[in-house]
Amino acid sequence: MTIAAKDIQKALLPEKAVLSFRKKKIELDVYQGTQKELAIDITKLRAKTGMITLDPGYGNTGSAMSDITFVNGEKGILKFRGYRVEELAEHSRFVEVAYLILFGKLPNRDEYQKFSHLLEEHTALHSSLEHHFNGFPDNAPPMAILSAMLNATACYHPELLDTELDAQNFLTASTKILSKVRTIAAMSYRRSNGFPIIYPNHQLKYCANFLHMMFSQPYREYEVDPVVERALNIFFLVHADHEQNCSASTVRMVSSSRANLFSSVAAGVCALWGPLHGGANTEVIKMLQSIYKEKKSADAIITMAKDKKSKFRLMGFGHRVYKNFDPRARILKKQVDEVYKILKISDPLLDIAKSLEEKALQDEYFIERKLYPNVDFYSGLLLRAIGIPLNMFTVMFAIGRCPGWMAHWKELLDHNQRIVRPRQIYMGVVERKFIPIEERE
Ligand code: SDX
Repeated sequence: MTIAAKDIQKALLPEKAVLSFRKKKIELDVYQGTQKELAIDITKLRAKTGMITLDPGYGNTGSAMSDITFVNGEKGILKFRGYRVEELAEHSRFVEVAYLILFGKLPNRDEYQKFSHLLEEHTALHSSLEHHFNGFPDNAPPMAILSAMLNATACYHPELLDTELDAQNFLTASTKILSKVRTIAAMSYRRSNGFPIIYPNHQLKYCANFLHMMFSQPYREYEVDPVVERALNIFFLVHADHEQNCSASTVRMVSSSRANLFSSVAAGVCALWGPLHGGANTEVIKMLQSIYKEKKSADAIITMAKDKKSKFRLMGFGHRVYKNFDPRARILKKQVDEVYKILKISDPLLDIAKSLEEKALQDEYFIERKLYPNVDFYSGLLLRAIGIPLNMFTVMFAIGRCPGWMAHWKELLDHNQRIVRPRQIYMGVVERKFIPIEERE
């Protein structure tokens, strides 16, 4: 699915941007997206001026035209293919949103049933893959296992390693990955705890089957509470994509070399692992646990987060794009309250989180820098309520993000985008002559 050439043409504004430097002046095209964002097209800048732009972290640089997800950070708006995330969280389910993100539209009943059936079909791993789990130590990081097992799974599907996947093969590959990431996650949890593997139950829907594979025992089926199943659907759904975030950009970078879908998603898992990105949901809980154990006050934590010397950051707060509430944080906070109430859970960490949020939102430092709770601030508390172990929180984020990663992989290839290869400004030594080792100090 590509953005039609006519729409790209329509986005091209009649006005030009003018860049002048050392008496030279050039005009640059300007594009306006469907949500009125403006972008200066610098694709010919170096050819025209010999100069490049410099933007480490790409905070001011657009890497693509995309029609998957729209984020308005100033207003705290998130839309998947035009649908507001709040509406999808209210009315939809993760599998339906995954279809939307992958194929650009909400599925009709027939499409939904076929897609769900494929996910059921692909849940199991090749039996030989189970032996790989014996090779990991019990304390192996689940994100390392997930990334490794995605590439190991690819070895059993050589027919899907060709990057020019046609529609049918992309559907097969994407449903295999979307389905099997659950199985890999559950198997890594079972193995690391010395539990027997629990095989998928094809009677169960996506989230319920995951909970079954995680928590059933050979002698006792896990009872899927509808409240928990709905909470998990919402958890996965709000994580499904987030435009050009670090891990999606990683997947696009890797796919631009025409690497296959499995290895590109495995690369996305590795990028997501970092504590500044998907690893933050784990860091939030660790932060709340240490506050609780050491009886630190919320005020002391806020003070530490403001102290540059402390290197400490209020995890789950702040965002490169959101300078307002992350709508996902609101949705997950509401889910936490609902699930805790219905399941009669009381967790001191939730009280600490709410008091941190309240104080930070009133503090000049946070207000001035527009630092609000992001998706990770409450997500870990929801996972705790469901019974997911702390070391699997980022794996849960990865499962939810798979549809987005795979949609970005496809979008880049559909647009036949060139290999991603940024430039740089060299600041090193200009030239040196080789000196034989005998003559070196
Ligand atoms: C995700 O990109 C995405 O879309 C990501 C994501 C997705 O769905 O894919 O939304 C998921 O990764 C959410 C973010 C999870 N990470 C965290 O919660 C970690 C804590 N947050 C920060 O480290 C930080 O806010 C980032 C990494 C999220 C954003 O960093 P930026 O945009 O590079 O901002 P910055 O580091 O330049 O900070 C600007 C200022 C600095 O202070 P000054 O130098 O201006 O004085 O704000 C301060 C920072 O020190 N600041 C914080 C802070 N976050 C930023 N100070 C204290 N606590 C924080 N959490």
